[in-house]
Amino acid sequence: MSETAPIATNTAPVASSAAKGDAGPDARWPRGPDGEWLVAGRPLSRVVDELGATPCYLYDRARLAERARRLRSAFPPGVLLHYAIKANPMPALVGFMAGHVDGFDVASAGELRIALDAGMDREHVSFAGPGKQEAELQRAQAAGIVVNLESFREIDILARASERNGTPARVAVRVNLPFELKSSGMKMSGGARQFGVDDDQVPALLQRIAAAGLAFEGFHCFAGSQNLRADAIVEAQQRSYALVREWLDQFPAPLRWLNLGGGFGIPYSARDQSLDTGPVIESLHALAARAAVDFGPQARLVVELGRYLVGEAGIYVCRVVDRKRSRGKVFLVTDGGMHQHLAASGNFGQVMRRNYPIAINGGGGEREKATVVGPLCTPLDLLGDDVELDRAAPGDLVVVFQSGAYGRSASPRQFLGHPDVVEALV
Ligand SMILES: Cc1ncc(COP(=O)(O)O)c(C=O)c1O
Repeated sequence: MSETAPIATNTAPVASSAAKGDAGPDARWPRGPDGEWLVAGRPLSRVVDELGATPCYLYDRARLAERARRLRSAFPPGVLLHYAIKANPMPALVGFMAGHVDGFDVASAGELRIALDAGMDREHVSFAGPGKQEAELQRAQAAGIVVNLESFREIDILARASERNGTPARVAVRVNLPFELKSSGMKMSGGARQFGVDDDQVPALLQRIAAAGLAFEGFHCFAGSQNLRADAIVEAQQRSYALVREWLDQFPAPLRWLNLGGGFGIPYSARDQSLDTGPVIESLHALAARAAVDFGPQARLVVELGRYLVGEAGIYVCRVVDRKRSRGKVFLVTDGGMHQHLAASGNFGQVMRRNYPIAINGGGGEREKATVVGPLCTPLDLLGDDVELDRAAPGDLVVVFQSGAYGRSASPRQFLGHPDVVEALV
């Protein structure tokens, strides 16, 4: 994986509703009268029976569509919404997203294949990531997508590929910004980074692009991810814009895209307050108006999001295999675990482990504190640590919410040779 993103290592100020005992993100999924969680309007046990297997990831089409629709309808006309496939590359999900966003960002030739299979217009596919291999760059050039350049070496390879194919590669410059995205779960700019090129090298890179005859199209500024603070995102976007504006006289061609990154986070616990996108949208309206003047009517701003678009639309479901007591503690041992949901186990870059929202399907009776684990021979295999749940027995289903991003594809599924996890769009 090129650039992994951690889950919720930052904590925004506690929402007053959360402080008053908001049950957290899981409260947003409906429950039927018998306590069953409803997935796309159907009882979870029924959906799982249809699939014929646990563990599974379920992604709700209506939630996916609604999240993208809300953002796009609030964006000004000059701002495009891209989906970063790395958050969830399930081909059926990516195919579904193709109809709900303006473009895709891919991080490898493998993701490029998925993006094109999904039917996304290649005009709106971009490729970012350090260490792009020669064959990947050649494929990107042949496909006619935008390559976000992260080194001078990539220019040379693309120049050769362009000469061979008789069409100039489409390129943008990924900038290692001179600042960080404050309060981010993961910072990806500022200081020394493997991502992009340092801002002070950009003028030389622009000259090389022109000399190599590549088709310059814009800039990519990705400062960080999993951010719940609108003010930090607004600041990073505005500073990115101002920086790029300084190079205006040096653009080898009119600017077509200015990708301002993303970083929109989602809450993973009741302590997290959901991102208020209002100030970000307001700022985007102002930036889009300025961009039309500064860069011309052809210029588009791009917001590139992964987890915000898909994370809350997915759940991970596993089944209790055993129920044990150890020195006064209840353990629910399930058929799922960190090999399929590394992030929920707290081992995907988190600084501090916190439970994802987790619940038992059905129930509604006695409550108890239990620790939910998987079948692996490591204490790291933890899905819920000492969490209050409905009392569960073998056969019951366990639901981990907020699991639509960085789930199956971000987990070491070969570890210990258990069967793979099923995924379905519902
Ligand atoms: C270049 C780039 N774009 C998009 C993303 C997606 O981030 P998120 O899923 O937090 O929105 C990442 C995450 O690492 C990234 O590196």
